[in-house]
Amino acid sequence: MRVLVTGGAGYIGSVLIEELAAAGHAVLAYDNLAKGHRDAVQPPARFVPGDIVDADHLTRTFVSERVDAVVHMAADSLVGESMTDPARYYRTNLIGGLRVLDAMRAAGVGLLVFSSTAAVYGSAETQPIEEDAPTAPTNPYGETKLAFERAMAWYARAHGLRGTSVRYFNAAGATARNGERHDPETHLIPLLLQVATGERPDVTVFGDDYPTPDGTCIRDYVHVSDLGRAHVLALEALAGPGAGPVYNLGAGGGASVREVIDVARRVTGHPIPVRVGPRRPGDPPRLVASSARAAAELAWRPTRQDLGTIVESAWRWMSGRRRAA
Ligand code: UFG
Repeated sequence: MRVLVTGGAGYIGSVLIEELAAAGHAVLAYDNLAKGHRDAVQPPARFVPGDIVDADHLTRTFVSERVDAVVHMAADSLVGESMTDPARYYRTNLIGGLRVLDAMRAAGVGLLVFSSTAAVYGSAETQPIEEDAPTAPTNPYGETKLAFERAMAWYARAHGLRGTSVRYFNAAGATARNGERHDPETHLIPLLLQVATGERPDVTVFGDDYPTPDGTCIRDYVHVSDLGRAHVLALEALAGPGAGPVYNLGAGGGASVREVIDVARRVTGHPIPVRVGPRRPGDPPRLVASSARAAAELAWRPTRQDLGTIVESAWRWMSGRRRAA
């Protein structure tokens, strides 16, 4: 298939395009480089500069490049930022997303995989979380991702689009070529590794009074290559008959912030000083996935379930970049 990935120059997008190319698909990475990196898109994938809000440009690209399918990843994706600047999240994730749907419709592109998030569940009571758990986002990030999922479902019904959403938990780790490099960085694992490289003095734990065994938040860290592979499988399943369901993607365990810190200390051999601060608004205490549906229907299995292996891959990538710089 000829697949266009919106947000293809971002962290998860750049790893997805490696996986799509490895599976034999022709790949276009469509990205406005607001957060992505041009050098993250390597041949055989091709880079197309563009913004998702520019529906005309998207439509022309779909037509001229004879695009068969879209993976829509371009988004604003920071829980904390979404609490202080909700408008940005509605603009990018909802209005931008609707433009993608409209452009697909105008160009007659009928297959869509949407990168959604565990944040749609909010503070789910039953863990691990299955796909039919109630959705009740606790932040505008999750709210806008859920709004797009619903819009996609109505477009699918009205216009025959085939779409599926993959709701993933905490993407982590790196490949040999691509890893996490946000500026500013807000994610736990890269922040811890930046302490180990000496780029920052310490990391603040956002709250240690949550109702969890050690009082810190529990998240399900899943290797970014496993996420990429799941998008490919979801896309290939769509190419068959019928519309796809929603899939949760996690590595199935769940680690607390303190456990992640201990793993990062072991992997890097650095003491990584931390201090405890207040809770970050919008953070649910625990988010752990049941990926049973993806296992049963897509034959997807995370291949790197051990957090040490995941953090090591991120550390190897970060150390390699520092040596090359
Ligand atoms: N944390 C800290 N200190 C920090 C940074 C993070 O204690 O300096 C904690 C957070 O409070 C949270 C955990 O580490 O409990 C992980 O935080 P991240 O910022 O790395 O990731 P989030 O869980 O907030 O969010 C990520 C993605 C979202 C996605 C969500 C789903 O960024 O897109 O996972 O679980 F929605």
